[in-house]
Formats: sequence, C-alpha cells, structure tokens
Amino acid sequence: MFSKLFNWKKKELEADENQPLRPGVDWSFLGADMHSHFVPGIDDGAKTIEDSLNMLRAMKEMGYKSIITTPHVMIDFYPNTTQTITEGIKKVQDALVENNIELNIKAAAEYYIDEYFMEILRKNESLLPVHNNEVLVEFSMMYEPPMLFDAIYQMQQAGYKPIIAHPERYVFFHGKTAKFSEMKSRGCLMQMNLLAIAGYYGKGVKMAAEDLIKKGMYDYCGSDMHNMKHAGVLRAMMQSKDYHTIRNYPFLNARLCF
Ligand SMILES: [Fe+2]
Repeated sequence: MFSKLFNWKKKELEADENQPLRPGVDWSFLGADMHSHFVPGIDDGAKTIEDSLNMLRAMKEMGYKSIITTPHVMIDFYPNTTQTITEGIKKVQDALVENNIELNIKAAAEYYIDEYFMEILRKNESLLPVHNNEVLVEFSMMYEPPMLFDAIYQMQQAGYKPIIAHPERYVFFHGKTAKFSEMKSRGCLMQMNLLAIAGYYGKGVKMAAEDLIKKGMYDYCGSDMHNMKHAGVLRAMMQSKDYHTIRNYPFLNARLCF
C-alpha cells in the first residue's frame, strides 16, 4: 500500500525542470500571490537573501506580478512582530532593486491562532493585513483549537476579516464541511494552497481541496512557498490537469495586484 501511495505521489509531482514554459500557460492569470515565506531568516521559509531572490525570480518567471508575503507569527517558533516583518521586507525590496528584478512585493503576516494571538487581540494591537482589513490566520494541524471561533469573533470585533489559510490541510476537519460553512457564514474568507491540489501534502489533502473547490468554498489561492522545491512543484503543475482546475475557478487573487 505504501509503495502504491509513494508511486502516486511521485507521478503527481514529477517535474521536468528543463521543459520551457509554454506561452500563455503560467500563473499570470492569478496576478498576485498572497501566501508565502520570502522574508529571510525570520521563519521556516527563505534562510538567506539569496534564497529569497531565487524564489522571487521563479515567481516572476511563472507570471506573478505582485507578491504579498506572509511570515509566520507564532510565539513558540517565530515570535515576529510588525517591526521584524517591516525591517525584513525592506531588505527584500532593496535586494530586488539591486538585482534588477521587477516584481512588486509587500509584507503581511500569517498569524497562528493560539493564546498569544488572543493576547494580541486583547491588547488591540494592529495586525498586518493581506488586503484592506483581510488578515491571514492559521491554526494547529493536530486538533481544533478551543479558541478558534472566539478568535474569529474577536478579529471581527477589531474590524478585521479573517482569511483561513489552507483549510484543506486540517485533517481533523476532513469530511466536516459544516465547519467551513460556519466559518464562511460568519464572514471568513478561505485560501487554498496550490501545492495541495498538486498532491504535495498527500492524497487526503488533495481530495479535501478538490471537494472544497467543487463546493465553491475558496476565495483566494496561495503558493505557501517556503523553498525552491515548492517552486518546482508549482512549475510542474503548469503541465498538469491541476492547472486547469485552478484556471477554471474564480479565485479573487487579481484584486490583490498593486
Ligand atoms: Fe504559510
């Protein structure tokens, strides 16, 4: 069974890095990417500015025009603040200019819902939005956090609209679309990871993403790119039927272009 699963994954993710991009087949129809980890040294994404530039060159080549990158804010592992993120993105912007890479980039954040985040909300601290008042949030992959719906409510009380990052990755919600319907009916937006549709996180997550696509639950899609391996999968997707699945869905990314 495991070898079957392995073969399935390998086949899904097979990339031919030498194959040139076909004209008109790229991610330019999305325009903007709104979930990634390109600020070096402050989370589990880019480690160095060279990593950042390599990934951003790949994004540009694949057709993206605008990037809203979203460093983790997670107290135990990545205790970022508006200051660390603002300082970090300035370095990336300067490096893009120095290296003549024409790409618009700015920073928001991916906030992890836990007691620390609740404390930020209690203190009425400003959050870094992806767009207008829309703020990207994630939570534990292991269990439903007890404060999940309270966090959503408190964000809205503070004037923010939560974007739930990669709902398809929360395995404990698989087969429980009602949870997402409830989030949507409470005004949340949903963001799909492109890598999920490629099967990068496994077959169960891919099926969950396809189900949420069928049900029209998503608003945005994002690369959630952390490294060049992710860039390779995104490139390989352009040669697969998954590309058309994305192309045929009315994602709202284009409105994020700047
Ligand atoms: Fe992320």
